Amino acid sequence: MTVQERKQRIPYAADTATHRSEERSVPTIESQSALLAEKPLIRVSHVRKVYRMGEERVIALDDITLDIRRGEMVCFLGTSGSGKSTFLNMVAGLEKPTRGEIWIGNIPVHKLNEEQVTLFRQKNIGFIFQAYHLIPSMTALENVTVPLTFRGVEKKKRLRAGRAALKSVGLEGYDNRKPSQMSGGQQQRVGIARALVGNPKILFADEPTGNLDSNTTKEVMDIIVEQARRHGMTLILVSHDRTIAEYTDTILTIKDGNIVDTEYRTPREQKETR
Ligand SMILES: Nc1ncnc2c1ncn2[C@@H]1O[C@H](COP(=O)(O)OP(=O)(O)OP(=O)(O)O)[C@@H](O)[C@H]1O
Ligand SMILES: [Mg+2]
Repeated sequence: MTVQERKQRIPYAADTATHRSEERSVPTIESQSALLAEKPLIRVSHVRKVYRMGEERVIALDDITLDIRRGEMVCFLGTSGSGKSTFLNMVAGLEKPTRGEIWIGNIPVHKLNEEQVTLFRQKNIGFIFQAYHLIPSMTALENVTVPLTFRGVEKKKRLRAGRAALKSVGLEGYDNRKPSQMSGGQQQRVGIARALVGNPKILFADEPTGNLDSNTTKEVMDIIVEQARRHGMTLILVSHDRTIAEYTDTILTIKDGNIVDTEYRTPREQKETR
């Protein structure tokens, strides 16, 4: 095993039971795709997050347990401060729970170190932000291909994938526009293309339409849902807005860091995306 492979090793369920044959039984980052095909894709078990600021304790998440199937579209619906972003960041590996476990396939996300989280995210996760988070000095195409640069994809392939991603969000011909030369809706579409370009298994979106008007909101939500469905991605959305939540299969209401209601919706009830 090379140093690089050793670095990329991820803790694995079997290892918690036995340390025998660790070198052979631990999958490398390359074999995670196979692990992620298992169901349910995401298992969250008794997750709690307490922030401490001096003497003060903030219970951002109290006790959350849930499963999300592969290909499911889920929205966490809740008011400001209910714990939505904290939960999303936890599942995406950006923060560690105070207590509890988060498994994605056979990967214990709650246990990964910084380097493992980075590799895991690069390979499996696309993230759409409320405020787009585009790099102002870069063109649309350059912004979209940033994740592929981090993954070491060669330039020609990067550009081809980037153009295809821009096309998939209806921005063909916008390759050379800078963020300042685009509307909010167009910038968010660049943000979506960037999230899609690496073909992630899970798409996260934190208030993706929070900065947009109602017409643009519909356009952007239609694109997110259609792309997630077309590529069989699992979509995890958070919003305070019920009309946004209604684009998804399952609405989980979050209040004071707990899931207080779960609503499974039939396909008929979902918003038409065309
Ligand atoms: N880094 C932190 N340190 C201390 N407290 C935090 C931190 N991050 C979040 N909190 C607190 O945790 C609670 C949940 O915050 P969170 O950002 O998850 O809410 P949210 O549902 O995403 O709200 P919004 O809709 O306003 O984005 C809030 O009370 C918040 O003040
Ligand atoms: Mg938030």
